[in-house]
Amino acid sequence: MKIIETVREMQSVADAMRSAGHTIALVPTMGYLHEAHLELMRVGKRHANKLIISIFVNPTQFGPSEDYERYPRDPEGDLEKARSVGVDIVFMPPVEEMYPEGFQTTVKVEKLTQHLCGLSRPGHFDGVTTVVCKLFNITKPHIAIFGQKDYQQLAVISRMAMDLNMDIQIIGVPTVREADGLAMSSRNAYLTQEQRPSALSLKKSLELADEMLRKGETDAKAIVRAVEALIKEHPFTEIDYVSICDPVTLEDMDRIDQEALLALAVKVGHTRLIDNQILKRK
Ligand code: PAF
Repeated sequence: MKIIETVREMQSVADAMRSAGHTIALVPTMGYLHEAHLELMRVGKRHANKLIISIFVNPTQFGPSEDYERYPRDPEGDLEKARSVGVDIVFMPPVEEMYPEGFQTTVKVEKLTQHLCGLSRPGHFDGVTTVVCKLFNITKPHIAIFGQKDYQQLAVISRMAMDLNMDIQIIGVPTVREADGLAMSSRNAYLTQEQRPSALSLKKSLELADEMLRKGETDAKAIVRAVEALIKEHPFTEIDYVSICDPVTLEDMDRIDQEALLALAVKVGHTRLIDNQILKRK
């Protein structure tokens, strides 16, 4: 497994791989790798014969009062995990390599970013699309893999790739969960043992919504109210949003006719957790 820290070397290695006829899959990450990242990598390996991962905690997607400085980092552990799934190249640039002096360009997806996390994290998705666009230009993948846990991120990146005619297939991978149902996230490391049952209220509320729909409730507001009530029963929780929306446009829906997205963002203590599920009328 090769570790590359500069843009120039990464681009020339990617060019050589492409010239040799290889198919490249990219899994972009911010490190502190866990089983869900490894699953993205396994999917990458099934779709391509060269797997590149990036490990870069991207400062431009964190707000001024967010956790950039204390975001968990474990480069040695990450490299060991990457090796265990057969990653070919780890691209691990320092911040100055990605954002040299004079950097002043932003990639912005307009409408999809005006909902859900875009409302409470202004500028977050601009940081994501800008860095992902750069990572695409640097690693030159044919395929890029993202988790469906970050549903809006996946939608925004897919839109960017489509709108900018990027010749890259974007693949979404279903959410990987801990044994107790909590969606895997590097931020789960912040949760205390006491807060853990409260963190599970997210998964429980997805199940509650599913059950209400199965019993015939199609009024989105009624489901949102029930979900909010369930979450509020748990200590340490502070709801950012509970939204039932169109899975393509992310615009709020009043009635669940066919498919809808239930998306949640909840702070448990200081840890902001997200989860989501597609609700389908049978
Ligand atoms: O999902 C993440 O870890 C990040 O948002 C990403 C896609 C690696 C961009 O920094």
